[in-house]
Amino acid sequence: MNWWLRHAEPGPAVAPSLLAADFARLADELASMAAAGADLFHLDVMDGHFVPNITFGPFVAAAIRRATDLPLDAHLMVSRPDLFVAPFADAGVDALTIHVEAECDVPATLADIRGRGLRPGISLNPATPVSDLEPHLDAVDLVLVMSVQPGFGGQSFQPGALAKIRELVELRSVNGLHYAISIDGGVGGETVAGCRGAGADILVSGSWLFRAPDRAAAVAELRGAGGPNRQ
Ligand code: DX5
Ligand code: ZN
Repeated sequence: MNWWLRHAEPGPAVAPSLLAADFARLADELASMAAAGADLFHLDVMDGHFVPNITFGPFVAAAIRRATDLPLDAHLMVSRPDLFVAPFADAGVDALTIHVEAECDVPATLADIRGRGLRPGISLNPATPVSDLEPHLDAVDLVLVMSVQPGFGGQSFQPGALAKIRELVELRSVNGLHYAISIDGGVGGETVAGCRGAGADILVSGSWLFRAPDRAAAVAELRGAGGPNRQ
């Protein structure tokens, strides 16, 4: 079974984005999503420079680590992710995703992440072409396709992301690579079928999932209840 899956039945993994969680009750929110069947957690780290918002850093990631056994993928929306690899590794995250647009030596940072025993991931903004990722695809375990402009939850899904997923599926197959393809931003009941159809392996969902009246049903809906992963 692939590293990002916690369940054996077919269908993509579901990763709640904690940006949408009630941070006044974070431990309860983590337990609730784990009980609902989430596969891993998506930690949105923002520095107020790469994106016009600030969220949390390694200190909170360490607290989240103490509160759940599920894998943690930290999405670093920060200008200098190279400066934070060690602190997030020490915090106990499992995967560390940096942006190809970041102001750092991307190959060296990805190698540092891998060297510390974490899974390296790379992400691209809506305006960035997949071709910008090609030099790095053999160095990552995860590609995070942004379907919104990073910085905030609750935005509308940008369907242009679906073509990027298809392109990444093709590049993975043609080049014999193994990265998981994750999609992030505006993923919910109305948009998830297209994401599954394009071939996404991991579905990040924040506002839609945390607002759902029945979280287990919402997780199952995102997964397609084992329906066909790709059309
Ligand atoms: C946006 C973040 C996303 C966002 C997803 O910058 O990277 O993970 O929190 O939240 P929704 O699902 O509400 O778009
Ligand atoms: Zn994210």
